[in-house]
Order: sequence, then C-alpha cells, then structure tokens
Amino acid sequence: MSPMNRGRRTRLLTTRRLALCLIIITGIGLVYTISALGNPEYIQGRASDTVRNAVSAAGSARERLLHGPAGHKGEDIFCDGVVDDGRIVVVVKTGATEALEKVPAQLATSLRCIAKPVIVSDLNQTVGRHQIHNVLAGADAGVIASNPDFEIYRKQQLLAKSGSLEDLPSLSTMPIAKEDWRTKGKTAAWGLDKYKFLHMVEKAWELQPGKDWYIFIEADTYLSYRNLRIFLEKYDPSTPLYFGSPVKMWEHKPKPLWFGYGGSGFILSGAVVRDWTTNHPGLANEWDKKIGKMWFGDFVVADALNDELHVQLTDAWPMLHNNEPNVAAFSPDTWCKPVVTMHHLTSRDFDDVYHAELAVRGKPFRFRDVYRHFYDFGLPFKREFWDNLAGEEPEFELKVVENNLEHFSGAFDPKSLKDPHQFFSGCQLACVQNEKCFQFTWSMTTSDGGDRQTECHLTKVFRKGRKRETEKWTDKKTGAKWERNWISGWRSNRISKFVEEHDECS
Ligand SMILES: *[C@@H]1O[C@H](CO)[C@@H](O)[C@H](O)[C@H]1NC(C)=O
Repeated sequence: MSPMNRGRRTRLLTTRRLALCLIIITGIGLVYTISALGNPEYIQGRASDTVRNAVSAAGSARERLLHGPAGHKGEDIFCDGVVDDGRIVVVVKTGATEALEKVPAQLATSLRCIAKPVIVSDLNQTVGRHQIHNVLAGADAGVIASNPDFEIYRKQQLLAKSGSLEDLPSLSTMPIAKEDWRTKGKTAAWGLDKYKFLHMVEKAWELQPGKDWYIFIEADTYLSYRNLRIFLEKYDPSTPLYFGSPVKMWEHKPKPLWFGYGGSGFILSGAVVRDWTTNHPGLANEWDKKIGKMWFGDFVVADALNDELHVQLTDAWPMLHNNEPNVAAFSPDTWCKPVVTMHHLTSRDFDDVYHAELAVRGKPFRFRDVYRHFYDFGLPFKREFWDNLAGEEPEFELKVVENNLEHFSGAFDPKSLKDPHQFFSGCQLACVQNEKCFQFTWSMTTSDGGDRQTECHLTKVFRKGRKRETEKWTDKKTGAKWERNWISGWRSNRISKFVEEHDECS
C-alpha cells in the first residue's frame, strides 16, 4: 500500500470513529439541555451569581469562551444593531492552499453578522453555505498558460480535476518562481496572490453591483463590522474614495505612491467601483500582463487607481490596522480610536478579538478594549531574546540623546551610561529620562574577532512584540562569525499609569 493510500484509509477510519463520538456527545448534550431547560437558573443566565463567583481564574476563561464575557449572561448580542442592510460589500481574499484552514474561524467570529460575504480565491471551492470564487478564471489566458507565477495555479487546477483536493495544502510550501531582494523566501502561493486584486474588485461588482461601499480584506484579517459602519457614516459613497493603511512605494515613478496595505483591508466607495467597471471595462485583464514585474497586489490596486481613475489613497490608520493585538501600536494617539480591522490573526486570535469585541456590548470597540483584553497580565520590565519592535517603525521612534548624569549615582560607572547605545542600562536610563518613552529595544552584535556593535531604540508606543532568537551569520569576505542578540525593556509603571488614567474614552 502506498503511503498515500494508507493515509486515506486512516482518515476513513478516523472519520467513522469521529461520527460515532459525535452521536454519543450529541446524545449527552440533548439529555443535559432538556434537564437544564427545566432548571430556572439556566433560563435566567446559565449560572447563579454564587456559582459565578466561585469560578476560578482558569474556569472563568473557559466560561468566557462558552458563554461570552463575565456578566454577559450568555445572550447573543454580537450582531444587535448591526443588521447587514447590504449597503457594504465585504470581500475576503484567500488562496486554495489555505482557504479551508483560515476562513471558517473568520466566518464564525468577525464576519458573523454579514449575510453574504464575497469570498474570492484562486480555485472554485465551497465552505459550508459559501461559494469561494476563483477570480483568476477570467485572467488573461496567455498569462495563465505561460507565466511562471501561474505554475502553482496550473497545479491546483490539475489536483481539482483529478479529485485530489486533500493535497492542496502541500502546495503551500512551494517556493516562489522568481526571487529578488524583496520576495526572497516567499512562497508560490504568495507570488500568485498579486494577480487576484484587480479581478477581485471586478468580481465584487459583478456579484453585488451598485452598493455604497466595498471593503477588501484577507483571510487573516479581523473586521469589526460594527465599527466599519460607524467609520463610513461620515463619508459620502457617491464621491471617489479609497481608504487604507498607508505604505509608500518608493520605486513608483516619477514620484513615490502611497498604497493601502492589503492585510489591513482597503475600502473603495461605490463611486470608484462604478467608474472602474463602467468606464474601464477589462481593466483587470489589461493589467494581467504588467503584474509580473510588480511586487505586491495591494500596490497594483493603488497604481491602477492612480493611472486609470486618478484616485489616490486616504489614510485610515490606525482604524484599518496592520497588526495583531500583540504587535498593534498602543499609544495616547491610538488609545480611544475605534478598531475597524486587525491583521495577522490566527484562529485563536480571531476567537480572542471576537470575545474582546463582544465584551464592549455594542459600544464602539477601541484600542483600549483590545489592550484590556490581551494585556491583563501587564508587561514585564525586561525580556531577553525578545523584540518589542521599538526599532521597527521609524514614525514611532524617539530621538536617542546623551543621558543626563548630573544627579546620577548607582552601581554603574556613570561614564558608561552617558551613551544610551553602549549598554542595556544606558538605553533603559534614556527611556526613563524621556517622558514620552514607553519602551525600548537594545541589541548587541558581536564577532568572534572581538568586534562589538550596539544599538538603542526608544519608542512612544507600547506593545508586547515577539520572541527573537539569536541571529548568527558568517561574513563571506573575512570569515568572521557574527551573532546578534535582542533585549527589550518596558517602562511598565509608566504604561500602567497611562492605562489607569485613561480608563474612559469620551
Ligand atoms: C469556476 O466557476 C466560475 C463560475 O462561478 C466559472 O466561470 C469558471 O469557469 C469555473 N472554473 C474555473 C476553472 O475556475
């Protein structure tokens, strides 16, 4: 028996066992529900206050998962007041290698209140009651047949034709066809993605024409539909508008062009999509041939809008957000702003953000609420092998200046603390001395030849950040071995003080 056949058989057996388990569980559940319905406590709120108070910390987390946040009494209020009136079209873009792994969690949480989301991909599939549309079906035939970026697309079609859909996820590791400094290490699925964007816009109009707004998100984007409606209320959909989280494409000629980062989602007014589809028919097909030389599909959108419709980006950051809760930019500037989207969410994050939104019970869902939900253990003072991203986004960085050591006395030789870059303690002192500083990152690069380079970054935003292990490399010219380590620090007391003092948003 080939390994593949063995795999199929095991799956078959497991499916049968699973079905049996399901029948038993459903049976138990039914008996429980019938007995619980006769119990007045169940009807009032599933548990009396005495029971609720007795629930341990671990238990209350589970309670929250099953029945909504504490005090919520299990009512289903997530969609209250946000009935989908069909004026906003929500379009989700995914790919065949990931669609069925990512989209279900998104549909069950963030998109629960949307009656007819448009799901687009690079293969015709279904997920429950939803059709997943292959928007590349109508792409330029010559490009599909001969462009190396479409090799994965052609493979997907073959798998679909031969009934081997279970092999689709294995294509997710296929490397990109053409690599350069910007696309190094990317996958073939990523390389194909950029061709979907323009067809996606045309498909959205074809399926749901004449609507007020079209928002385009990805399968790992959380969308607060409630906040989206509040955000859009202020704007007129009959005027040309393109909203996004801005990124600058420096290579655009004759001058750099801002585009809306795809993961944060971008929004087009009905006026833009109408003009596009009525006055520029076949635009997506026209562009298929140019896209091979362009890096990102979200940039392709901005470039096409700029060239063909003379529409440019309107900045909607931080509401359209580029990161997940651990990396989102919390600061006095964003604290009371509503969260419309967040990006890079895992299925667990989807569930967590959903519960954070549920907890505000229909009020605008703000960065403050995300912080409360995700950072209830606070932030540490110091963490090694960790990057809290203080040096990642220049727009949030604070200038590093020499430390003032006039009244300084401590265990360290004061001279070594003067330059904040030299030691972790100096970097920490620099953050203490700048009242806008919430956190900092210090990195040290050393070689086996005794070289030492250090860097201190201060920032005015606060966030958890990510693990960052030692980076090692060998210098090709000299043969020297290098390594770089990251340590992060937070002014935890300053952050807690800010959080306590800004509990309310008006
Ligand atoms: C997918 O479905 C659409 C209609 O929904 C159809 O036009 C297209 O030919 C189908 N086939 C492929 C290869 O995607």
